[in-house]
Amino acid sequence: MTADRILAGARREEDVVLETSLRPRRLAEYIGQEKVKDNLRIGIAAAQQRGEPLDHVLLYGPPGLGKTTLANIIAAEMGVSIRTTSGPAIERPGDLAAILTNLQPDDVLFIDEVHRLARAVEEILYPAMEDWALDLVLGKGPGARSMRLALPRFTLIGATTRYAMMSPPLRDRFGAVFRLDFYETGAIAQIVSRSARILEVELDGGGTEEIARRSRGTPRVANRLLRRVRDFAQVMANGAITAPVAQEALARLEIDHLGLDEVDHKVLHTIIEKFNGGPVGLDTIAAAISEEADTIMDVYEPYLLQLGFLHRTPRGRVATRAAYEHLGVPPHHRTPAGQPSLWD
Ligand SMILES: Nc1ncnc2c1ncn2[C@@H]1O[C@H](COP(=O)(O)OP(=O)(O)OP(=O)(O)O)[C@@H](O)[C@H]1O
Ligand SMILES: [Mg+2]
Repeated sequence: MTADRILAGARREEDVVLETSLRPRRLAEYIGQEKVKDNLRIGIAAAQQRGEPLDHVLLYGPPGLGKTTLANIIAAEMGVSIRTTSGPAIERPGDLAAILTNLQPDDVLFIDEVHRLARAVEEILYPAMEDWALDLVLGKGPGARSMRLALPRFTLIGATTRYAMMSPPLRDRFGAVFRLDFYETGAIAQIVSRSARILEVELDGGGTEEIARRSRGTPRVANRLLRRVRDFAQVMANGAITAPVAQEALARLEIDHLGLDEVDHKVLHTIIEKFNGGPVGLDTIAAAISEEADTIMDVYEPYLLQLGFLHRTPRGRVATRAAYEHLGVPPHHRTPAGQPSLWD
């Protein structure tokens, strides 16, 4: 069922073609994330002045916020090529060795889902990141010798939705670590208008606002909602997206005014009604609504935390007053006496 979700930040088949045309190519076109962009501009300028590759960069944050986009932009701004792969795609140390030895000097190597690299593969990466060196072991047993090969200088860009799952030695080898946050509604509105211009969709300020507010601070979701609303507008409203057209289209998709859908509502109702507001463990919530715990953690929970509807405690998730209010659930479901209350 998750595969059908319109609001999931995770990438889906239908996004692929669209994302290519909508993806910003340069830093100046990349909307929002101002702090990250400022730091990158400085790092890129400094590296270029020294004639060196950029320091290794780690990008982390929920799906659909622009990590892959930014990796490609960094390579473009540095004026170098990018080689893209992912943690699970590199099965053996030899696979990584082959990739590394084939890089051109100063290239970017982009490893998506970098938290899923096998440990033996990571070990090849450490000397490569630190010394641009590849350590090979020749032979076996007592006669084995190790040999060091020089690699071209390169920049590693890692991306992950799961910073906590990365091994500390790998994390430590990135010179710059950037966390991408959910976008402000204003930035999402700019992304929606930009996409509408590229797609040649007629969209007014009210329509933009309606779509932006329900996009969960996530560019990928914004672009997806824009496409759905465009379909509706084309068939039902002569193609123009105004506030009422957007409202009607989004109501039909059962997306509430904050961008929460049926599954978000189920998560909150479960915590509040079945578990008295919490604390309740993630696995228990997942079982109660027949979703995978990982999906809840990556896709639903970050935005609910961001809205302040959920809190994480050592004993599990707790629904906050704001969540009760949003769902219109009366206060008799308050956290029972003796448990930590997040109401006050
Ligand atoms: N800052 C931005 N400005 C404009 N559009 C953006 C921005 N960030 C992302 N997008 C749009 O959102 C889409 C999704 O971004 P991207 O694929 O880079 O996300 P991601 O963080 O790599 O997601 P995942 O974790 O699923 O790999 C892009 O194709 C692009 O169209
Ligand atoms: Mg990506």
